[in-house]
Amino acid sequence: MTGKEIITKFKTFFIEKGHVEIPNAPLIPENDPTTLFTSSGMQPLIPYLAGEVHPQGKRFVNVQNVFRGQGALDDIDEVGDNRHLTFFRMIGNWSLGDYFKKEQLPWMFEYITQHLNLDPEKLYVSVFEGYKEIPKDEESINIWNEIFSNVGIDPKERIFPYGPKKNWWSRAGVPENMPVGELGGPDSEIFYDFGAELKIHENSIYKDEKCHINCDCGRYLEISNNVFMQYKKNANGEFDNLPQKNVDHGSGLERFIMATENEPDVFKTSLFYPIIQTIEKQTEKNYLDFTREMRMITGHLSSSVFIISAGVTPSNKEQGYILRRLLRRAIDSFEKLKGRELSPIIESLVNQYKETDPVLVDKFEEIKNTILEEQGKYEHTRKEAIKFIQKKYSLTPTLSHRERIKGEGVGDELMGQTEISADDAFILYSTHGLSPTQIKSLGYVFNDQEFANKMKEHKTLSKTASAGMFKGGLADHSELTVKGHTATHLLQQALRDLFGTQLHQIGSNITSERLRFDFNFDRKLTDEEIEKVEQIVREKIKDSLPVHFEILPIEEAKKVGAIGLFDEKYEKQVKIYFIGGSGKEGDHNAYSKEFCGGPHVNNTSDIKSFKITRQEKIGVGKQRLYAVVQ
Ligand code: SER
Repeated sequence: MTGKEIITKFKTFFIEKGHVEIPNAPLIPENDPTTLFTSSGMQPLIPYLAGEVHPQGKRFVNVQNVFRGQGALDDIDEVGDNRHLTFFRMIGNWSLGDYFKKEQLPWMFEYITQHLNLDPEKLYVSVFEGYKEIPKDEESINIWNEIFSNVGIDPKERIFPYGPKKNWWSRAGVPENMPVGELGGPDSEIFYDFGAELKIHENSIYKDEKCHINCDCGRYLEISNNVFMQYKKNANGEFDNLPQKNVDHGSGLERFIMATENEPDVFKTSLFYPIIQTIEKQTEKNYLDFTREMRMITGHLSSSVFIISAGVTPSNKEQGYILRRLLRRAIDSFEKLKGRELSPIIESLVNQYKETDPVLVDKFEEIKNTILEEQGKYEHTRKEAIKFIQKKYSLTPTLSHRERIKGEGVGDELMGQTEISADDAFILYSTHGLSPTQIKSLGYVFNDQEFANKMKEHKTLSKTASAGMFKGGLADHSELTVKGHTATHLLQQALRDLFGTQLHQIGSNITSERLRFDFNFDRKLTDEEIEKVEQIVREKIKDSLPVHFEILPIEEAKKVGAIGLFDEKYEKQVKIYFIGGSGKEGDHNAYSKEFCGGPHVNNTSDIKSFKITRQEKIGVGKQRLYAVVQ
């Protein structure tokens, strides 16, 4: 079964059950500078899971391209085993306060056993065992008992409860790590058993350990995650019930492919093996002997291909930095195997994905050039790093740069090792962008502990600098954040009142501490202009304007003058927030009209104060304002 067939079967199955297909959101979230990548299918649905009304209904299905290389969802270091990827396609379905466990679990079992034709004998499940005030998930246990009994399987050997580390899902991970306002819930995962005779198991470091479904040995594979999204963290660190009980289900397409092909190594599935074979050709080495390196090349390059096709180029910042890290890791492994050319591997990758992602074919040249250019830059960086050390330590270059970089023509033992200070190693890390492993591969040794201390200092500093980056903006639905959100709409309208309607939002980030609003404008605002904007917003607050939303056909929304990003390709119905007018349904005579998921305050008078605290230029023709509300 190809990836495309699995996707089609899934969509058909859920559409027949009344689900609406929602679009694959861009890999780099639009209009949302709070998070670097789309890392789960639920990300674009957060306001609706929290209780906002969705214009298309309550049941959704989609396939979302996700990248997991940031924050709590960072799998970059996991790549190299039999199943982890940082880029994958997530097949999902959602219930926004509609059906719940007793529908979702039997449906998934039905899809997996009757549409993917997986043998029920090979399936196991996990459920939440409870934690603090959240009880054990007896309801799911009962449902699974019935499901397994119905197919003649003794449920006792199939259902396993686990704590929050394994069976709790939130974007931030375990309950302790969740910020106030973040959504989360217990989950029930489905596992596929590749069998006790698995070679990977016998050869692995786990061979003497008792195997269980969450064992890392590779025998069991988690193929499906059904999250019962029903809680929100409050300021006391406890969990409140959301206004509705949601289902957030996601399964990795690549893992379904592994299970349907009964192939415990994702890199040996029909999706990836042709790529591995191209690597074997380019390196003249065997996958069996260099499994980890070839997995890293394949895994990191495939993520890179999708990130580049989303418009990112390697740099030292944000998405560009992550891309650079991925590419350089792939290149490290490729050089270790003394590989010849990357281009045929990129070509093979695009070929393998073209059925589900034809856009890669159109962008092939751009993708290839970006990767090859970065390969050149990386080589240059390492030459510069070598020059820096040779100068600093007055070394006579005994080996040419190329030899040092590639170990060409000499055995590792002959390349020699030069001892450098942890300070200098840190300079190579922070200014030349080389990781400790990459520094070592140039033949330099240093005190690991001292280097680690330096890193720690640096991390504390940069954490302070980037606080808020991964906070997820509106994912936090605390009172102050919601007030800040409504104030942002007022701020946008006030700016348009002053400077005209060509001015519009290009991004926003709202936390309980402050709001941040980015817009297209080519200069700083004067003090008087800032004051004027503040005055308008404060006036609107004082006027106690009602806030309400309506779901409108997109054409009508445009007609009434609503502003925002309208994605005409997919959405027929959109949700518009109105601030002002009578607040009654059908009254579109409002001060601010914006396409938005919510949530908002009910009346602007709920906001007690508004103050602009700072402005900055964030790029050509781009300004940013910070403000606080109470
Ligand atoms: N949100 C869950 C995940 O991303 C299920 O969709 O794994």
